[in-house]
Amino acid sequence: ADVIAVVPAAGIGSRMQATCPKQYLTIGQHTLLEHSIARLFSHPAIKQVIVALSPDDQHFASLPLARDPRVLRVTGGETRAESVLAGLQAAQGAAWVLVHDAARPCLHPDDLQQLLNVREQSHVGGILAAPVRDTMKRGEPGKAAVAHTVERDDLWHALTPQFFPHALLTACLTRALTEGATITDEASALEYCGYHPLLVSGRSDNIKVTRPEDLALAAFYLSQIQL
Ligand code: CTP
Ligand code: MG
Repeated sequence: ADVIAVVPAAGIGSRMQATCPKQYLTIGQHTLLEHSIARLFSHPAIKQVIVALSPDDQHFASLPLARDPRVLRVTGGETRAESVLAGLQAAQGAAWVLVHDAARPCLHPDDLQQLLNVREQSHVGGILAAPVRDTMKRGEPGKAAVAHTVERDDLWHALTPQFFPHALLTACLTRALTEGATITDEASALEYCGYHPLLVSGRSDNIKVTRPEDLALAAFYLSQIQL
């Protein structure tokens, strides 16, 4: 069955310290947003992408994407969760929905396929995640001193895309926002409501461009996966 994707792209990219929101920085000829959406359309099941933009967006309208009939734009919100919810509201009728960061241009098609397979494995959904490799330390609150080492065995980096039944994700995000829960990704909203999404082991090169040094790394990784 067809899948609708929601791409939250309404952030300002403050940590990137660039002159434009980071989703509009370019690698080669294309913006991060265009790369991220192209990775999604590389899968035949993904027929529509809903992109959530800032009400002040100055950049999207000049991209070819703005005239792509498969791409629908909605106005995002103050937080990522509100932006995603705005996208979900425009995706009425979708059974399952994929949510993917505009700032993750290096998604590999194999990982996307693995995540889409979650539909056959869970009624709750799942996320791409990468096992933590470094030794992890918990610091003393407010001090740069080690409190203790955190057990690494079951620790994962949460990535995107994340893939859930549309109705379940909408209900969980709405409840989490209403109750003021801390939500940093879609899975957090499901966890808050007592669900346990699957962890689908994905590639660690599916990075989110967050800080200035990430852009060159993403350009390199993208050159390696370009089909
Ligand atoms: N996002 C969004 N709406 C918001 C905030 C974030 O749609 N109100 C999107 C961003 O555009 C990005 C994704 O959520 O594609 C991941 O968020 P993040 O990496 O934190 O991006 P920014 O919030 O833009 O960056 P920063 O936190 O450094 O300001
Ligand atoms: Mg942010």
